[in-house]
Amino acid sequence: MIDIHSHVLFDMDDGAEDLATSIELCRDSYMNGCDSLVLTPHFFEYSYLEDFIEERDMRITLLQEALEKERIPLEVLPGAELFLTDRVFGADNLDELTINGTKYMLCEMSLNPFDTKNVIRWFDELIDRSYKPILAHPERYYVFHEDYELIDRVLKRGIIFQVNLDSLIGANGSLAQDMSVDMVRRGIAQIIASDAHDLDFRHTRLIEKLNELPDVITEADVERCLIEIPKKIITNQDI
Ligand SMILES: [Fe+2]
Repeated sequence: MIDIHSHVLFDMDDGAEDLATSIELCRDSYMNGCDSLVLTPHFFEYSYLEDFIEERDMRITLLQEALEKERIPLEVLPGAELFLTDRVFGADNLDELTINGTKYMLCEMSLNPFDTKNVIRWFDELIDRSYKPILAHPERYYVFHEDYELIDRVLKRGIIFQVNLDSLIGANGSLAQDMSVDMVRRGIAQIIASDAHDLDFRHTRLIEKLNELPDVITEADVERCLIEIPKKIITNQDI
């Protein structure tokens, strides 16, 4: 499997705090059927893009060296989770933030209520710059729960939806569970990922959580959302 959304890279955000935790998260990931894990630390501060890239890449190198030493054959790939605000327009070149240097860009919005008037503009800006936006956990946004029409408008822009495995098993409440299950069943969500942050609850153990999936999610759904489509994402193929 391929997990395209994680906060496994140490000391970058609210995810893994140190290298030892990153290594354990990678070990768990590999032991749970994952071959490739994309490291997607939160990116908020557009004025410090170069610093962010430098810090991230330095830590990825350290993690790769540690994985080799520990004989954990998990492929770890660079990425980021881009926080969408009006500040997105300030940075000239966001190429380094894409998933593994592809055209695919993982994005998130605020989970709290906010004025949605610019949401479509943010996506259009990214599309104009030739990126293919992937929206992380659409099932978790207050603004989507309040406004289904906004979901339709975002989908009409061709935005790819990635739901969290946690949400599918009910860890983010029944509303997020119902919405994420429905999105996978109807093919609206094309990717499932861990969005892992820690070793306890928001962990990298995919198989453990897949065993708790509701029966309506089929093996074919899992294969599509955790293998086929993510494979195309990390190799920059159209989906
Ligand atoms: Fe995330």
